[in-house]
Amino acid sequence: MSTAKPSFYITSPIYYVNAAPHIGHAYTTVACDVMARWKRLDGYDVKFVTGTDEHGQKVQASAEARGVSPKDFTDEISAIFDKLAKDVGSSHDRFIRTTDDDHLEACQALWRKLLASGDIYLGAYEGWYSIRDEAFFQEDELHKNEDGVRIVTATGATVEWVEEPSYFFKLSAWAEPLIKHYEANPEAIQPRSRFNEVMSFLKGGLHDLSISRTTFDWGIPVPDQDGSDQKHIMYVWLDALTNYITALGYPNQDGEMSQFWPADVHVVGKDILRFHAVYWPAFLMSAGMAPPKMVFAHGWWTNEGQKISKSVGNVIDPYDLIATYGLDQTRYFMMREVKFGSDADFSPAAMIVRMNSDLANAWGNLVQRSLSMIGKNLDGKVPSNAGLTDQDKALLQQAFDLKAEMSTHMDKLGFKDALEAAWRVIGEANAYVDETAPWALKKTDHARMETVLYTLAETIRRIALLLQPFMPESQSKVLDQLAIDGGQREFAHLGDALESGVELPKPSGLFPRFVEQAD
Ligand code: MSP
Repeated sequence: MSTAKPSFYITSPIYYVNAAPHIGHAYTTVACDVMARWKRLDGYDVKFVTGTDEHGQKVQASAEARGVSPKDFTDEISAIFDKLAKDVGSSHDRFIRTTDDDHLEACQALWRKLLASGDIYLGAYEGWYSIRDEAFFQEDELHKNEDGVRIVTATGATVEWVEEPSYFFKLSAWAEPLIKHYEANPEAIQPRSRFNEVMSFLKGGLHDLSISRTTFDWGIPVPDQDGSDQKHIMYVWLDALTNYITALGYPNQDGEMSQFWPADVHVVGKDILRFHAVYWPAFLMSAGMAPPKMVFAHGWWTNEGQKISKSVGNVIDPYDLIATYGLDQTRYFMMREVKFGSDADFSPAAMIVRMNSDLANAWGNLVQRSLSMIGKNLDGKVPSNAGLTDQDKALLQQAFDLKAEMSTHMDKLGFKDALEAAWRVIGEANAYVDETAPWALKKTDHARMETVLYTLAETIRRIALLLQPFMPESQSKVLDQLAIDGGQREFAHLGDALESGVELPKPSGLFPRFVEQAD
């Protein structure tokens, strides 16, 4: 099917189902969702995929520890992640599970391609493996702790010695092509500091990668095994990364593959950049496919300055945030608090400042005082726009121009900068209310009051349209209060204007101030 719309494909990582979801999972999903919603409203045909990564030793061990089969275990935990995605407002088009039937087919098809290109050979692996990271490590990536136990320097995980027959992927042959690819496409790894990190890793040379395991069986079988009695299952990262093309119907190269591949952006945490910026493009290039256009690595959340960890007991449950502060408030905080790509710190105090100053005082108050003046003084009808002054036109223009400014930031996943631009215009609008003082005009110049309130209502409409991706529920409420039809909420309608005389519903509060309860 041909479509006139441009296409946009965005993915979140697929989450391991070994434990309950935490703030990190909600964060990536929300960021992808904001981006997906932004592009949809901007007229793109968007595909947004999230899901769960269910195979491998770590998940098998967690299932064993619970005394249930891996399948029952993954069904249960995957459903929790599926629910979380919905509960954070995610608008994904597919929730993929690596236990889905079409995924098995895609993985085996990709394997055969790599084999056909001569990049797979059978050997034996001898070395260190970290189950927590599901990754192999060289001796120089480890150090010994005070008890003499080897630890992965980058992640803090312990390792075990593995000796087993294994298929290998000739990753070593792909260092040069990858370097050339990134030199020609430096924007493909964001932020820039991460690009440098990947380049120096590549320039250090690559070892061939073990891509099958034989000592456990919870995974996708390697296809067409050559009569040896060993049962190889695919390395969980080869399996997991393939989800990005399974979701587009691979191995069928027509249909969604031709429309959406290469992906516009894979959003990942900084800890899994190497898998996405080195292994994945190498697999794809070996199979004759284009690498993703961009991999964006975001930072990690800490809890009041401390690394989040189960053993410390300071894991932040996204459901607690939503229950305490509200969904849109949580989404806003995550996107506004730090530049996407940097590490971020959660604290109730920081959250409350954002809720009260940005949401309740600045945006909520602008909407509420404007709409309630319209309700009280103008019978709740959209005011007349007769006699717009230069001052009015300037504010309306700023709200219109905001789209272009936000887009520039959004194309770089600059959520914080985009929101700052919006809040600058909200600040201008609040200053305009104070300067024009429509409550005083009520008695002295009714016509002028109408024009001022019109200008405010129209400015609010434009800003609310642009804030929808970040806070879908509350902005939908604002647009309802302005009687904007559901079919007129795309950015293409920014240039429309409110129709004078239209009756508006009774306004209601948007963002209550957060008042801390005394214990
Ligand atoms: N299953 C792999 C991804 C496979 S993608 C083909 C995986 N899963 S994970 O569940 O362990 O992690 C998922 C994401 O959560 C990663 O992007 C990781 O960076 C992110 N986070 C884990 N802890 C985090 C924080 N404390 N803060 C922000 N993100 C964090 O890795």
